[in-house]
Amino acid sequence: MRIDVVTIFPGYLDPLRHALLGKAIERGIMTVAVHDLRSWSHDVHRTVDDSPFGGGPGMVMVPTVWGPALDDVAALTGPAAESSPLETALAHKLAHTGAGSVTDGDGTTGSGGEGSGGEGGTGEGDGSGTTGSGSGSGAGDDGTTGRDDRPLLIVPTPAGAPFTQETAARWSTEDRLVFACGRYEGIDQRVVDDAAERYRVEEVSIGDYVLIGGEVAVLVMAEAVVRLIPGVLGNRASHEEDSFQDGLLEGPCYTRPRVWRGREVPDVLLSGDHAKVDRWRRDESLRRTVARRPELLDAVELDRRDREVLGAEGWGTPDEA
Ligand code: 6GU
Repeated sequence: MRIDVVTIFPGYLDPLRHALLGKAIERGIMTVAVHDLRSWSHDVHRTVDDSPFGGGPGMVMVPTVWGPALDDVAALTGPAAESSPLETALAHKLAHTGAGSVTDGDGTTGSGGEGSGGEGGTGEGDGSGTTGSGSGSGAGDDGTTGRDDRPLLIVPTPAGAPFTQETAARWSTEDRLVFACGRYEGIDQRVVDDAAERYRVEEVSIGDYVLIGGEVAVLVMAEAVVRLIPGVLGNRASHEEDSFQDGLLEGPCYTRPRVWRGREVPDVLLSGDHAKVDRWRRDESLRRTVARRPELLDAVELDRRDREVLGAEGWGTPDEA
């Protein structure tokens, strides 16, 4: 997978180099490139915003800068061709391939020899050889698989559709994700409308609060997506038990010592009875979910035993007015 981020604060995206994403970059599973939007500004002040038509507070990011930026990032041309992928990836590629460039000629990531194969596909290297820059047809359909090969453009905005675990799972099979970080009051809407000719576009929000810009949201979303790509997490089963995977919150977990500050680990976890442990974990998940996120239960299939556990927590009993 290749991730491109366009922002006026490239430094905000430095954490992409670290931890999980850094590991994915080093393993050749990911390429990440951060682009300074001001590279596409036209004037000495490197202006990217202007006052809103119709009046009101704040500033709006101008289409005359964003349009060419997104054109170039889609095609990996102009300033977007120059921006070097993050250093950890570069060091890895230099060490392992001797090549000076991280991106292949076709604009896809990876050396092809490692990382992208593995366990069921990372969304790239599917053999079609048609992924990547999209600079050819511009029509999106690659003409062989019938799949829409336009990159996905993600515009973080508090006015977007909710980003959820389901969104992360869907994006984790993409070849290319491009994030357009708005600041100020937002980006001129025509940028988003026009980009739909070269991209599939999603405007998304990470929660019901307002951030100053999309950069931190991109870090959140990128981490949620990347950890789902095979080969990124050490233990492949570990996200099968995540909160939200079965629609419930995860319950508590424990490790050694068995007694700490007089507090004991629940006996059932030491019983060696796996069926009992599973049932206990389900019960704890149900209790935690009803206490913290009761609305999640509407979408969960509940059997009789589940309902008994929830009933004991007061679930299904009408609130007193
Ligand atoms: Cl994705 N962007 C911004 N700027 N603010 C947000 C958000 C995104 N999600 C919640 N608030």
